[in-house]
Amino acid sequence: MLDKKVVELLNSQVNKEFYSAYLYLDFSNYYHDLGLEGFGNWYRVQAQEERDHAMLFMQYLLNNGEKVELEAIEKPNIKITSAKAVLSEGLEHEHYVTGLINSIYDAAYSVKDFRTMQFLDWFVKEQGEEETNAENLVRKFALFGDDPKGLYMLDSELGARVYTAPSLVI
Ligand code: FEO
Repeated sequence: MLDKKVVELLNSQVNKEFYSAYLYLDFSNYYHDLGLEGFGNWYRVQAQEERDHAMLFMQYLLNNGEKVELEAIEKPNIKITSAKAVLSEGLEHEHYVTGLINSIYDAAYSVKDFRTMQFLDWFVKEQGEEETNAENLVRKFALFGDDPKGLYMLDSELGARVYTAPSLVI
């Protein structure tokens, strides 16, 4: 049996991760619409990763004999203003998600739930990587995005990203 508060936060994280997938699909569609297929691909792959995160949280609850309550997924609520601004919004969203993961960790720590802490370790590391990736996108766009050739090259680079299943087995 897991602590009630920890379960509540883990259950809510299932929804937050699905929301992240939704948000990134929205970003992806925006880029596809602009003709920036590579950016669109990058965010579509990111959406697949977010869906995986949701499934991992869900499976962890099931593995521990807890019920999962699926909530409605909110409509993406970030207003997209430009190809450049999307990237900063993405970075900000990852900071927000890191905060959520830290809060669950904090709740698990306070009740000495070492199993959940160990499960969350992977997400702590993953968030570090995702923040770095998002920062790199912001930086690269600032460097090359205003030049058509630079943007074309960047779009080609991002088009090469392929989906791989998460390394975490629970
Ligand atoms: Fe699943 Fe990007 O946080």
